[in-house]
Amino acid sequence: MDRAPGPSVRLKLTLSYAGFLMLAGVLMLAAVWVFLLRYVPDRAMLINADDRLANGVFPVRGVLLDVFAPRAAAVLAFLLVFGLLGGWILAGRMLAPLTRITNATRTATNGSLSHRIRLPGRKDEFRELADAFDTMLARLEAHVAEQQRFAANASHELRTPLAISKSLLDAARADPDRATDPLIDRLHAVNTRAIHLTEALLLLSRAERRSFTREHVDLSLVAEETAETLLPLAEKHGVTIETSGDITPTVGSQALLLQLTTNLVQNAIVHNLPEQGTVWIHTGAHARTAVLTVENTGEQLTPRLVSTLTERFRRGTERVHTDHAGVGLGLAIVKTITHAHDGTLVLTPRSAGGLRITVELPLVTDTTPRRSR
Ligand SMILES: Nc1ncnc2c1ncn2[C@@H]1O[C@H](COP(=O)(O)OP(=O)(O)O)[C@@H](O)[C@H]1O
Ligand SMILES: [Mg+2]
Repeated sequence: MDRAPGPSVRLKLTLSYAGFLMLAGVLMLAAVWVFLLRYVPDRAMLINADDRLANGVFPVRGVLLDVFAPRAAAVLAFLLVFGLLGGWILAGRMLAPLTRITNATRTATNGSLSHRIRLPGRKDEFRELADAFDTMLARLEAHVAEQQRFAANASHELRTPLAISKSLLDAARADPDRATDPLIDRLHAVNTRAIHLTEALLLLSRAERRSFTREHVDLSLVAEETAETLLPLAEKHGVTIETSGDITPTVGSQALLLQLTTNLVQNAIVHNLPEQGTVWIHTGAHARTAVLTVENTGEQLTPRLVSTLTERFRRGTERVHTDHAGVGLGLAIVKTITHAHDGTLVLTPRSAGGLRITVELPLVTDTTPRRSR
C-alpha cells in the first residue's frame, strides 16, 4: 500500500515544531530589540552642555542594528536547524507505535489473525488504540475459528446421510432380488433427516443475519400453538404437557419464535424420563421482559454439561434413540433466535432432574412505539 502523494505526518509534525520554534525565536528577538531601543537614542547625543561633541558617543540605532541583525540571524538559523532536527527525531519517536499498529494491521489483512501488537509502556492514547486493536483481533480470531469448526461439522453432518444412502444403494445393487420396501423406508428416513439438517442450517443463518420482519407477537399464543402441535409426540413418549400464563407481548418474527418454542418443547419431550414425564410451559410479562419458561423432568444434569448444550452439533447424553435422534442444532437455533430478538437464554439443571430453560425477550405492548431497525 503506497501513501498518497504529499508530506508525511512525520514531516508535517517536524515542520510545525520548527515553525513554532522559529516564531518563538523571532518574538523573543523582537522583544530584546524593543528593550534595547529604549536605551539607545536615534541620533548622536550631546553629552556636555558646552556644545562640544563628546568623544565617546553612544551608538546610534543604525550602528546597533548592524551589530544586532547578524547575531539575530545566526540565532534564528540555529533555531531552524535545531527545530528541524529535533522535530524530526521527536516526531519519529511519537509515531513509532503507529508504525507498529500499521504493521500488525497488514499482517492481519494477510490472514494471520494470531498476531498481536502488545504495545509496551505507559497506558496512553496509542497504548489504548493498540489494546483495543488486540481485543478486536482476539475476537475476530475466535469468531473465524468457530465458523471454521461449524463449517467442518456441518459438512460432516451432511455427508453422513449421503454416505448411508450410498451404502444402502450399493447393497441393493449387489443383490437385486432383495425386497425393496425396507430399502425405500430406510432411504426415506435418511433423506428426511438430511432435509431437517439442511433446513436447520438455513434457519440458523437466517436468524443470524436478522433478516426478518418484526411484528407484535403474543408468546402465550405461540406456546399454546406449540403445545397443540406437539401433543401427539408427547403422547407417544408418555409425557404430559402443562401450559400456563397470561398475555406476553413482544416484538419479533412470529415464525422464528414459533420455531424457538417448538425446539424447546420438542427437546423437553424427547429428552425426558422414559415414562411419566412432565413438561411445563409458562409465559409471563415481567417489568421489562416477556418471559417464556420451558421446564421438564428427566435425567440429572450437571451444570457443566448444561453450559455446553447450546453449542452447535452438541448432543448431550449420547443415548442411541434413532427414532428421535436430533441433529444437535435445536438449542443452537434457540440461542441464535433469542439473540436476534435482543433477548437472553438461561439453562438451569433442575435439582430433581431435567432442565429449566428461560427465554427473556423485551416486553413490547401494542401501544409502545415499535423500534425501527
Ligand atoms: N429439555 C431438555 N432436557 C434435557 N436435556 C436436554 C433438553 N434439551 C436439550 N437437551 C440436551 O441438549 C442436547 C442438545 O440439544 P439440541 O441442540 O436440541 O440437539 P438435539 O436435540 O438435536 O440432540 C440434547 O442432545 C440433549 O442431550
Ligand atoms: Mg433438539
